[in-house]
Amino acid sequence: MPRFHDLTVTAVRKTIRDAVELTLAPDDPAKFVFTPGQYLTFRQTVEGIDLRRNYSICTAPGGPLKVAVKRVEGGAFSSWANDVLKPGDRIRAMAPQGRFADPNPRDGGHFLAFAAGSGITPILSLIGAGLARDPQATFTLVYANRAVNTIMFREELEDLKNAYMGRFSLVHMLKTDAQEIDLFTGRLDPAKCAALFDAWVDVASAVTAYICGPEPMMLGVAEALKAAGMPPGAIRFELFTSAQPGRLPKRRITKRAGARPVTRARITLDGATQAVEINARTSVLEAALAHDLDVPFACRAGVCSSCRCRLVEGEVEMQANHALQDDEVARGYILSCQSYPVTDYLVVTYDG
Ligand code: FES
Repeated sequence: MPRFHDLTVTAVRKTIRDAVELTLAPDDPAKFVFTPGQYLTFRQTVEGIDLRRNYSICTAPGGPLKVAVKRVEGGAFSSWANDVLKPGDRIRAMAPQGRFADPNPRDGGHFLAFAAGSGITPILSLIGAGLARDPQATFTLVYANRAVNTIMFREELEDLKNAYMGRFSLVHMLKTDAQEIDLFTGRLDPAKCAALFDAWVDVASAVTAYICGPEPMMLGVAEALKAAGMPPGAIRFELFTSAQPGRLPKRRITKRAGARPVTRARITLDGATQAVEINARTSVLEAALAHDLDVPFACRAGVCSSCRCRLVEGEVEMQANHALQDDEVARGYILSCQSYPVTDYLVVTYDG
């Protein structure tokens, strides 16, 4: 079963100096039906290297399929997308993935959103979809950037404000540019959040908060929300930075005890099971790829969950987990890019 599908780039638009918005037309649109806040995993060979990168869809369902790619210093894919990609080019991506949106959104609620930099992309999709779907819903977005000229989708956000008067309020938090209201200048850290919650953002009335940005910002906002009384279950995260070091606590999954230097494993993918051997210093993902299994992956950093699979037997140690919820871990799901064998035998399935 091919995991990557062909799309045509129909438009490339600069949003800010170092970011482009790509409009994409899938060959098979049915494969690219998406829910708000989902992302696409792209696969591209750049200078002989097979790259996979995730980018969030920035439009609401029903609209054109668009992603935004911000240039990362030294980033091969983002530089290629910003410098080389042009309308008419072909590109490959997996079907939309991600579980950022609340699966059971409450009608008529007040929703909070916090974004930093390119973290705005899934938030833009969620807000656009939420305002259009539920005429009673209201949103407050706090969007942090370094300066005015680094604000992505500034016009689109203004358009949303105009289209949904009174239902969408927007606070631009700028790190270096002074603003009329002092409170809106500086970093979006817990102290700034506490000050915002005192004077500007009504946390008590909010049913859900969506946060997307670098991990320190997300953890700081979440702490401040919890301190203001928001239940942890109402706070939803989307972390989209590749090459994140594993800073969250290690999660361990145990199905059977006993360790050996080389682990025999059976890996099931698309209904076929293959026997592989895994060195103790090799992740389940690396072992599967070394045996030519076309298993899914993108960030290789425990962030995106593209490599999620289920441990049926054996024990692994996950060195980082920025993506799986506790209930998924309890049901045996692991991030194969971060999972190293602990037992002499593993059974793993990518088939659900
Ligand atoms: Fe992204 Fe494993 S490849 S979490």
